Amino acid sequence: MGSGPADTLRETALWNPFANMAGVAGHTVMITGGEGSTVHGSDGRSYLDALASLWYVNVGYGRAELADAAVAQMRQLTAFQTFGDFTSGPAEALARRVSDLAPMPDAKVFFTPGGGSDAVDTAAKLARAYWHATGQPGKRVIISRAHAYHGMNAYGTALGGIPANWDPQVPLVDAVEHIAWDDPAALDKAISTLGAEQVAAFFCEPVIGAGGVYPPPEGYLAAVREICRRHDVLYISDEVITGYGRTGEWFASGRFGLDPDIITSAKGLSSGYAPIGAVITGPRVSEPFWRGQGEWFRHGYTYSGHTTSCAIALANLDLIEREDLVARVADLEPVLAATLAPLADLPLVDEVRSGTGLLAGVEIAAEARAADPGLGARLVRDIRDRGVITRLVGGTALQVSPPFVITEQEIGRIAEVFADALTAAARS
Ligand SMILES: Cc1ncc(COP(=O)(O)O)c(C=O)c1O
Repeated sequence: MGSGPADTLRETALWNPFANMAGVAGHTVMITGGEGSTVHGSDGRSYLDALASLWYVNVGYGRAELADAAVAQMRQLTAFQTFGDFTSGPAEALARRVSDLAPMPDAKVFFTPGGGSDAVDTAAKLARAYWHATGQPGKRVIISRAHAYHGMNAYGTALGGIPANWDPQVPLVDAVEHIAWDDPAALDKAISTLGAEQVAAFFCEPVIGAGGVYPPPEGYLAAVREICRRHDVLYISDEVITGYGRTGEWFASGRFGLDPDIITSAKGLSSGYAPIGAVITGPRVSEPFWRGQGEWFRHGYTYSGHTTSCAIALANLDLIEREDLVARVADLEPVLAATLAPLADLPLVDEVRSGTGLLAGVEIAAEARAADPGLGARLVRDIRDRGVITRLVGGTALQVSPPFVITEQEIGRIAEVFADALTAAARS
C-alpha cells in the first residue's frame, strides 16, 4: 500500500505548537537524545543546538545526575500537593534556595507547574490582588512593551507585543496597554494618561527574547524602574529566559540593579529536566498576604511545587553552582558577541544584537525579507541541513541562545554555519 499525504495525516496525531500542521505533518524532525550542546535525530544526524531547545537546557543534554535526582525522589514520594498547609521537603528547600538567589530581600516563592506562562498569569493576578488587598482596587491596568513575549496563557497572550500571536483572540483580558519597547518616556506618558490610580504593574523582559532578542538600550531598565517607583506601579521583571544565569548573573534584575517587586521565572530553574516555574516576590508584595490578618491569594495549580520537579530543580541549581556555569556565561558573553559580530557585514544581515549573556539575534535584512518573504524559513532550514539548530524569532531574526556548557569552538561553528547559509542565500 502506498503512503500518500492522506496516510501521513491519519498516522500523525501530534498537533505541534506554533506550527501550520498542513505543512508540518509528516515532515517533522524527531530528536532522540543528546549530550552537551548536541542533539541526535532519528535520521542518524547530529545537530549543534544553538537554541538550548527553547532557551532552557542551560546545563546541556544528558545530565545523568538530574535523572538520578528524579528517580530517587520518585521512589520516596513522587508528588504531594502544596495547597493550604501541606508542603514537602523539596518544595521547601527549593523555595529557600530561590529566595536566597533572588536579587531582593526576604523573597517569597510561588511555584507554577507548567513553566513561564503560568508564572506570568500568576504574577498578573497577584499584581491585581495586591492592589485589591491594599485598598486600591482601581489599580488594574497592566502595561507591556512592543516585541514582548510573555507566554501563551490568557494574560501572557494579551500582554505580548507580537500582534500575530493575539490578533484572532483579543480581547482576552481587559485593562492591558502596550507601549514602545525602547522608550522610557512612553511608559511615563502611558501612566500619566491613564492615571497612576488605574495602573497596577509594568511587565518588562530585561532582554526581549522571543520577540527578536533585543538587549535593553543603555539606561532603559534603570529609567523604567524609576518611573514605576515614582508612580507607585509594580515593576514585574519577566525573567523566564534570563533567570538562573543566562545573562551572566543569577538574575538579570541583579545585573541591572532593578530591585523588582516581582520576578517571573521558569526554564533555567530546572534546565527543562522537568517543567516548573517560580514567581518570586519582594517584601512589599508579600506583606499583605503574609502578615497581620493576612489575605488569601486564591490561586494555585495542582502541580504547584510538584515534589519531583522541585527535586530536579534543586539538583540543577547544585550542578550550575558546582560547575560555576553562571561565571562561564559571563566569560562567554564577549566571545559570543565577537564571534557573531562579523555576520553583520554580510549583505543579508541588517544587524547582530548581542552583548547580554548567552543571547543573540541575527537580524535578516529587511529589504531581502520584503522581496522574499520565505527567506527566513529557508535560512533556518538550510542552517539545520548544515547541522545547526536555530529558529526565527520576531519573524525577523535568527536566535542564538545555546546551553551554558557550549564551547568556544562550538560558538565558532554556529557563526561559520550561519555565514555559509547566509552567503549561499545571497547568491541564489
Ligand atoms: C519572557 C517569557 N515569558 C514567558 C514565557 C512563557 O513560558 P512557557 O512557554 O514556559 O510557558 C516565555 C517563553 O519563552 C518567555 O520567553
